[in-house]
Amino acid sequence: MGLDLQKMAKLSCGIDFGTTNSSVAVSDGATARVLDIDLENDSPTLLPSLLYIARDGERIVGRAAANTFIERNVDREVIVRHIDLGVHIEGYVGGEGDNTYGSVPRKEGLDVHEAVTARALVEVNSPGRLFQSLKTSLRLKEFRGTEVFGTHYQIEELTAEILRRIKAAVDEEAGEPIDSAVFGRPVHFSTREDEDIVAERRLKTAAHLAGFKNVTFLYEPVGACVEYAISREYTQRLMVVDIGGGTFDVCIMEFGGSHGRASRLAESRILGVAGVPVAGDAIDREITREKIFPCFGSQARYGPAMLPLPQFLFNTVLDWQNLYKLNTEETINWLIAAQVSSDQPKAIRALRALIQRNYGYPLAREVETAKKALSTELETAIEFCEPDIEINERLERSEFKHIIEHMLEKMMKALEDAEKAAGLGPEEIDRVLTTGGTSLIPAVREMLTDRYGREKLEQRDTFTSVATGLAIVAQYA
Ligand SMILES: Nc1ncnc2c1ncn2[C@@H]1O[C@H](COP(=O)(O)OP(=O)(O)OP(=O)(O)O)[C@@H](O)[C@H]1O
Ligand SMILES: [Mg+2]
Repeated sequence: MGLDLQKMAKLSCGIDFGTTNSSVAVSDGATARVLDIDLENDSPTLLPSLLYIARDGERIVGRAAANTFIERNVDREVIVRHIDLGVHIEGYVGGEGDNTYGSVPRKEGLDVHEAVTARALVEVNSPGRLFQSLKTSLRLKEFRGTEVFGTHYQIEELTAEILRRIKAAVDEEAGEPIDSAVFGRPVHFSTREDEDIVAERRLKTAAHLAGFKNVTFLYEPVGACVEYAISREYTQRLMVVDIGGGTFDVCIMEFGGSHGRASRLAESRILGVAGVPVAGDAIDREITREKIFPCFGSQARYGPAMLPLPQFLFNTVLDWQNLYKLNTEETINWLIAAQVSSDQPKAIRALRALIQRNYGYPLAREVETAKKALSTELETAIEFCEPDIEINERLERSEFKHIIEHMLEKMMKALEDAEKAAGLGPEEIDRVLTTGGTSLIPAVREMLTDRYGREKLEQRDTFTSVATGLAIVAQYA
């Protein structure tokens, strides 16, 4: 890897800022260990990468962010109004738009999400907002930030809020402020190079905002590879497949057989990397499309011409963070009218309840829970029962595999790309290490077994092997 092997006296720190979960490890030279960073989480070494910002500006991260959102925001009638901003403006105010304010005065105390010309869509009674998968937003050039209750937050600042928790844990462990960290990054934040550059730059800025002065990046799967290879003193070619919430990453590395961690690291070489932004979140969306959309009327017909419901309604269901945008008087009245003339009135009624009572997030969690269950069970059910909503959808592992087939193809292509970059065939790889939550999916494991052979596969710590390896590298960075 061409690392400069000047040993550092201080505790070294490796940070895996994940789409779903973040973790941190520190190394004192002898051992690397992961730190507890979220005592409210079932696994305290994992900090769910979630941020809740309350109306009064309070910021809550991790498991508590999800719990607070469910407690305060869900099962509550969302009231959305169009407000007249009184001035003609071009473009958007807040939301995912360009955030050009021009000379428009801000309305105090209101959560202005989006405005076109002189009107803004405002959630008047929202107690707070929850941000999920911020890492995915880092690559979106047009998403510079968002408006939360009259305050503009840049994406870097939202991300920094999560990193601050990690920094505090590291400093506490070290008993002094730690300025340097090796951060993981996916092989590709995006398939577009310009977006990839933007994402890394933003993550670096977020790390600076959180107090890390010296930040270096390493591919996440390289971290996992080092974690495995550092103590095994024999020559081998290793492949790491790291599949998380946002990205599928592969790297192939070669390690020599010399003694000592420093020389083993110095002799290691990255032979090839590849990656695609297709992982757990995209899989959840696919299950939602196939199994949940029909429960909300995606196959319903309405009116005298028996038309299907507009697709945009369902696209918003896919993205629960934007569900409130459907909660306008026009849309709700339209849904009530469509329901009366529909061949599936119950489904359209359910869609209205989903929108009006803000059930998007808990429903997404049910889908994820069912997906995880299929890693150990052959069949499961997605169950979600609330007033006017009754979902009980059976999902078998075989059907799930079928649903994600096209994603498996993309993952396979990334494996081939990594092999090609390394100039190696599958038989020339000695060991295939897997990590990341999505690597537990049986269809993914089958794909790897078919290509490399069962005996070569080894699951490493699913959620912390990347951070541990990054901390080891940080020791010598
Ligand atoms: N048992 C399981 N079976 C299938 N999927 C799982 C399981 N456990 C977790 N997942 C999925 O794994 C993903 C989270 O994994 P992980 O924490 O490794 O991702 P991440 O590191 O946050 O994301 P990334 O590396 O892509 O930025 C989520 O999509 C989650 O639903
Ligand atoms: Mg990860």
